[in-house]
Amino acid sequence: MSATRRISLTQYLVEQQREHGRIQGELRLLIEVVARACKRIAIAVNKGALGDVLGSTDQSNVQGEIVKKLDLIANEVLIEANEWGGHLAAMASEEMDSIHVVPNRYPQGEYLLLFDPLDGSSNIDVNVSIGTIFSVLRKVGHARGVAEEDFLQPGKQQAAAGYCVYGPQTTLVLTLGNGVAMFTLDRETGSWVLTATDVRIPEETKEFAINMSNQRHWAPPVQRYIGECLQGREGPRGKDFNMRWVASMVADVHRILSRGGVFLYPWDQREPDKPGKLRLMYEANPMAFIVEQAGGQATDGHERILDIVPSKLHQRVSVMLGSAAEVRRVTSYHREPG
Ligand code: AHG
Ligand code: MN
Ligand code: MN
Repeated sequence: MSATRRISLTQYLVEQQREHGRIQGELRLLIEVVARACKRIAIAVNKGALGDVLGSTDQSNVQGEIVKKLDLIANEVLIEANEWGGHLAAMASEEMDSIHVVPNRYPQGEYLLLFDPLDGSSNIDVNVSIGTIFSVLRKVGHARGVAEEDFLQPGKQQAAAGYCVYGPQTTLVLTLGNGVAMFTLDRETGSWVLTATDVRIPEETKEFAINMSNQRHWAPPVQRYIGECLQGREGPRGKDFNMRWVASMVADVHRILSRGGVFLYPWDQREPDKPGKLRLMYEANPMAFIVEQAGGQATDGHERILDIVPSKLHQRVSVMLGSAAEVRRVTSYHREPG
């Protein structure tokens, strides 16, 4: 893309507002503020050992996971950046037990922001791609105040969703409900530059992403689906499959958006009472929204992720997403008796 024809995130958002009437000023500000926060997180990530950002804190979060230093830094950056602009009523995060209401000293807006400030925490200290995931909801109703119940909306009501992947390149992926656009951070000018529009995930794929070490714990439909992929050309699929597992959902989903594939983090028998490992509201929902907007599908094996009505903020969910034909297939295996 030539320097003179570059479209910045700001220009893209202004055009979405002005020409397509897709978004209002408050949502435009919200996306810009989140993108700016991601830039600050990217800078911290890049400093690594030089910035004393590696390693763990002595805290654990509401999920019982050890909190890494960068989990906390990213969480604080996102809160600080979003608190004062007047575009939000409240925020929710993987790293906070309960919602963070915008303090009284600032005006309250009509949006709710949810985020996984740092996704792929196990990769921080080993210098592998990590990311930030975010989801935007509207506060329904005009009653004053805001409560956790206001967040418990199905994913199909998201006004916007996105993620930023801190990899060899820093890339912001965004949907406002009319397709998916990607922006690459130009470190020399500090701006987000539009580098892909109308992103489409191919229908079919020959690549799957799953943590194979859990194979013995999976339910029969997932055993069957992956088993058939592993049989390759000699099996019922009649083609060889490749496997990738980064252990950062952002990086795995980004690869799927870029070249197709299917991602599974299914329910398994290790913790039978939990529906899955990933969290619905700030991991599965935003990713499902992006994947659907790119022509893919996302289910929990039984129903569309975006139709699930949450009952709590940190609810977990089984996740199967990516190329439409593959997600349809693995979902259909869940419907078959036995
Ligand atoms: P987080 O770092 O926000 O807790 O998320 C990690 C998630 C997800 O990004 C990834 O797909 C999955 O955990 C990896 O889990 P395993 O280590 O069990 O493979
Ligand atoms: Mn995560
Ligand atoms: Mn996280």
